[in-house]
Amino acid sequence: MKVTVVGAGNVGATCANVIAHKELANEVILVDIKEGLAEGKALDIWETSPINLYDTRTIGSTNDYSKTANSDVVVITSGIPRKPGMSRDDLIATNAGIVKTVTENIIEKSPNSIIIIVSNPLDVMTYCAYLTAKVDSSRVFGMAGILDTARYRSFLAEALNVSPKDIQAVLMGGHGDTMVPLPRYTTVGGIPVTELIGETELDAIVERTKKGGGELVNLMGTSAWYAPGAAAAQMVEAIVRDQKRIFPVCALLNGEYGMDNIYLGVPVVLGKKGIEKIIELDLNEDEKKLLDDSAVAVKSVMDVLDNMNLF
Ligand code: LAC
Repeated sequence: MKVTVVGAGNVGATCANVIAHKELANEVILVDIKEGLAEGKALDIWETSPINLYDTRTIGSTNDYSKTANSDVVVITSGIPRKPGMSRDDLIATNAGIVKTVTENIIEKSPNSIIIIVSNPLDVMTYCAYLTAKVDSSRVFGMAGILDTARYRSFLAEALNVSPKDIQAVLMGGHGDTMVPLPRYTTVGGIPVTELIGETELDAIVERTKKGGGELVNLMGTSAWYAPGAAAAQMVEAIVRDQKRIFPVCALLNGEYGMDNIYLGVPVVLGKKGIEKIIELDLNEDEKKLLDDSAVAVKSVMDVLDNMNLF
C-alpha cells in the first residue's frame, strides 16, 4: 500500500505520522510546496520508527508529484488554515485554486487512487476536487464527520465521566456551524444518551460541538491538527484494511435524503472501494429541517465556487 498526504502543515504531518505509526502503508509520501518542509517532516517522522517500532517508510517531496505515482489513497490537506475571526468559508478564494491544482497533479500520477479531502471549507473543497478529478464520487470524499463526532464524543465522555470508547454517535450535514449532531442516534455503551444526561446539558454539548473548530482557533490562533490528522488517518485505515466501517463522511448525494449534486456529511460504509454505501437514516421532521438548513449553508458556498469560474 502507498499513501500520499499532500500538505505537510500541522494536519498533513500529523496524519502522516499516525499512518506510519499504525503501519497502514508500506510507504507514505508527504508533499508540500514549501521547499524542504515535507522532506524535513518526513525525515523527522521516519526517525521515530526505531522508537515507535514500525517500518512504514515516510518520504518527503517538494512539489514533485512523480514520487506520488500509483498511490492507493491520497489525503489532501493543502491550503491556508483559519485565523481567529474567520469562518471556514472565508478560505475559499485561496483554497479552491490550491485544491484544484493539487487534485490535477494527483489524478495524473495516481488515476486509480481514492482521494480524501481535508482542506476547508470542507464540503465545497471536496466538491471542487470531485469536479477536477472526474472520477466516481465513491472515490472522492471529505473528512469532517469523524472529527466532529470525535469532539462531540469527547465532550460527552467528560460530562458523563465515562470512556470515550463507549460513546457512539452520528452527526450529519456540513462541516460548519450548521452541522447536525444527532442525540437520537447517540449511545453510551448501548444506552441512549438521553437516559444519562439532561436536555440542557446535552444541548450545551451539541452547541459546543458545532463551534468546536472555532474554540480551538480562538485558543491557538490557528486551526486544530491532532484530531483532524487522526480522523483522516482513521479513514485511510478503513480503506486500506477494507474494514467496512460506518463513519459520517462528506459524500456526494444523488437523491439520498432528497438532495442532489451536493457534498454533505452522511453516514457511509467505508472500505477498499471507498464509499461502498450511503446509509439513509429515517430522520424526524426536526432533524430533516436541520439537515436542510445545513445544505442551504453549503449551497451558498458552492455558489461562491461557481462564481470563481474555475470549471
Ligand atoms: C477544524 C478544522 C480542521 O474543525 O476544520 O478544526
